[in-house]
Parts: sequence; C-alpha cells; structure tokens
Amino acid sequence: MLRNDQQHWGLISRLTHWLMAILIVGLLYLGLYMADLPDSPDKFALYGLHKSFGVIALGFVTFRLIWRLMTITPDLPDQLLLSRLSAPILYLAMIMMPVSGLTMSQAGGHPVSIFGWYTLPTLIDKNPALGKLAWQIHGYAGKIFIALICLHILAALYHQLILKNNLLGRMIKG
Ligand code: HEM
Repeated sequence: MLRNDQQHWGLISRLTHWLMAILIVGLLYLGLYMADLPDSPDKFALYGLHKSFGVIALGFVTFRLIWRLMTITPDLPDQLLLSRLSAPILYLAMIMMPVSGLTMSQAGGHPVSIFGWYTLPTLIDKNPALGKLAWQIHGYAGKIFIALICLHILAALYHQLILKNNLLGRMIKG
C-alpha cells in the first residue's frame, strides 16, 4: 500500500519518515562535530558533506510535505493538543534548518554545491549581517531541534510501551 489510509501509514510516508530520521540525526551530529573542529581542509570537506546532505534533506522534506498534503493522515489515537502540534513544529524545524543553512552560506559568500557535482544558483547575494543572523538561527534552532527529536522519540515510546496503542508499530510495519 503506497498511500496512507485512516488507520495506516503507506509505504511512501514510512520510507520518507525513516530516511529523514537517519538524515537529520546524521546532520545534527555532523553539524555539532564539525563546527567545533579547528580550521583545516578536513573540516571544510566535512562542511561540504554537511551542506550537500542538508540540501538533500530540504528536498526530502519538501517532497514529504507535498505528499502529506496530497494524502490522508492516519488518525491519532488521542487528540491531545501536544500530539496535534508535534507534526507542524517538527516540519517547521525541518524547513528552518536547511533554509537557515543555505542563507548563512550564500549570504556569507560561500557557494553551496551538492557533492561538488552541481552548484546551486545564487539565491541570496553576499550580506554579512544576514549571514550572521542565519548562522545564529541555525545554531539555536539546531539545539531546539535536538530537544524536539528527543521529545518525539519519548512520546513514541510512551505510546508504544505504556499506552500500547501501536503508534510506533504502524510507522514501522504500516
Ligand atoms: C536538516 C538540515 C540541517 C540540519 C539538521 C543541520 C544541523 C546543523 C547543526 C546542529 C550545526 C551546528 C551548529 C552549531 O553548533 O553552531 C550545523 C552547522 C552548520 N551547518 Fe547545518 N544543518 C542542516 C542543513 C544545512 C544546510 C542546507 C547548510 C548549507 C547549505 C548547512 C550549513 C552549515 C554550516 C556551514 C555549519 C557550520 C556553522 C559554523 O561554522 O559554526 N546546514 N548544522
């Protein structure tokens, strides 16, 4: 089943969920790790890798968002405000991170390429003040994003293990 229905996540939603999860956890880890390294060619090679995967993450989240708007979202077992707010907040973070990253790089005068194969067109002219603002947003939002992901995982485990409503199971097996 490719599409979602009222009770189940379809294959496309499940695949993109887990791909995004791996991509984002990897990007958060790499981002924190590389930002603390002393300047060296290796550090900037890691920056290149982070930027490339970051642009790919933006592609994925855009696709997932369009897909989500095109298909039904399965019902939540409870209609608590927190459960209903979690998806929009996570989407906001998933968009804010790559957009602030792109803005920081281009406004800082650094081109953004995907693994050196394709360089993105310049959407934002050099603007050091904007670059600094985007850098601050990227840093703070990254930390908030980590807290949100931890909450998301705890909520999934709480539903699965305590409430036993198979919320995690349906994202794994459909
Ligand atoms: C979902 C996507 C992304 C996530 C989760 C993410 C996460 C992070 C995190 C956690 C940091 C460390 C911030 C700090 O502690 O200062 C970081 C740094 C960085 N990110 Fe991203 N990032 C993403 C996308 C991007 C994109 C698309 C670009 C550029 C095209 C980018 C460029 C950078 C750069 C240049 C740094 C180093 C900043 C510095 O030197 O302090 N990121 N990222």
